[in-house]
Amino acid sequence: MKTVKIECTLEMHDNYSAFSEEEVKLFQLAKSACDKAYAPYSNFRVGAAVVLEDGQIFQGNNQENAAYPSGLCAERVALFYAMSMHPNKKATAIAITVDYKSHPQFQDVVAPCGGCRQVIAEYEHKFNNDIKIYLLGREEKVCIVPSMKAMLPLVFTGDMLHAMHQE
Ligand code: THU
Repeated sequence: MKTVKIECTLEMHDNYSAFSEEEVKLFQLAKSACDKAYAPYSNFRVGAAVVLEDGQIFQGNNQENAAYPSGLCAERVALFYAMSMHPNKKATAIAITVDYKSHPQFQDVVAPCGGCRQVIAEYEHKFNNDIKIYLLGREEKVCIVPSMKAMLPLVFTGDMLHAMHQE
């Protein structure tokens, strides 16, 4: 028997002083997307903003539905929007936030759900490039995850399906 340890390194910031103008703009766009979320059932608003390799930014927010599973998370709305408009451009980063103003109980940054992690991993795999994940916290707190590989180790990718078809 052997044990395998999986580690990941996160970068924690208390304010925006180390960030470029483009990064701060991305954070603001994630926050403004959050304000427009449609979350009448959970009242939990989430916003996301995705940057493509050419600097274009696509925003998304959670869209809920009376038939609950028909809704979609903010991260997927933003990524699917970006990838459907530009299927051949790499996504390089995504910023994610929740509505901290309405939820004083949230102290820590909120991380994406498993389904959104899998979707971010899909596009990292498709383009063979890391997507930097900025988890925005209260005020100017930011946690940077360098790649979905850090948040979703042992990821399932299309390679497994291709390997099966070659059997
Ligand atoms: N939600 C997101 O938008 N992103 C996540 O990563 C977690 C959950 C949304 C889905 C639903 O509209 C609400 O938050 C409550 O789960």
